[in-house]
Amino acid sequence: MPVITFANTKGGAGKTTAALILAGELSRRGNRVTILDADPRGWISRWHAIAGAGSLISVVAVNEETIETATAKAKKRGGYILVDLPSSHDALLAKAVGLADHVMIPVQGCAMDAHGGAEVLELLKELADKCDVRIPHSIVLTRVNAAVTTRALQAAKDFLAARGISTLSTAIAERAAYRDVFDKGGLLQSMNPAEVSNLSKALENAARLADEIVALMPQKTVRTTATRKAPVAKAA
Ligand SMILES: Nc1ncnc2c1ncn2[C@@H]1O[C@H](COP(=O)(O)OP(=O)(O)OP(=O)(O)O)[C@@H](O)[C@H]1O
Ligand SMILES: [Mg+2]
Repeated sequence: MPVITFANTKGGAGKTTAALILAGELSRRGNRVTILDADPRGWISRWHAIAGAGSLISVVAVNEETIETATAKAKKRGGYILVDLPSSHDALLAKAVGLADHVMIPVQGCAMDAHGGAEVLELLKELADKCDVRIPHSIVLTRVNAAVTTRALQAAKDFLAARGISTLSTAIAERAAYRDVFDKGGLLQSMNPAEVSNLSKALENAARLADEIVALMPQKTVRTTATRKAPVAKAA
């Protein structure tokens, strides 16, 4: 089953939030989701400890030593495997990226975020050039002001496309609901619309994001952990 890894070496780029939004929407659709929490600060584990997230979502804390075994175990469980990485540029990043079926690189509009994203793109290129491992990947624009014009967003996408970088058409908007779900625990769909502004828009954005990501996944993941070991690539 697909392993989707969220990576950007810039802290605060929106990796954990994007993983939570996707996990919630995938589980709402009846999919099992295992989130591998590879961040030693354990944000996802803390979020899960607050209010749980229904029976379909499991969270497993992993590190560089355990991520490969945990991924194999999660594959046996079935469903989607989402990996939330810390912002470090190290061997864990290289290993996690090597185990992924798709690497999502959340990038906000700021230059530092783009720089962190570029480090992940360089690592992916290194894996392709030196290890002949080509891992599909996409930029996902995050914390986009909901009022931003479609034209401005399109310009950012065109800029990335001109450099051969694929970007999801769905951007993740800046929404109070996404902050609240992270801070208060639980899932977007169990929040009270009377208490959270624009919850329906946040849910709609989550649904579009999941539609696009699901469509990018291979219908059947053919690679097995036996044939697809994490390549030994050195992170800078
Ligand atoms: N789309 C969004 N709307 C509103 N707030 C957001 C959004 N995305 C992220 N945030 C907020 O921005 C902060 C950083 O986001 P997040 O923790 O997801 O980034 P990260 O890349 O996982 O950071 P780190 O590298 O520290 O793990 C958090 O407080 C989060 O609530
Ligand atoms: Mg995080």
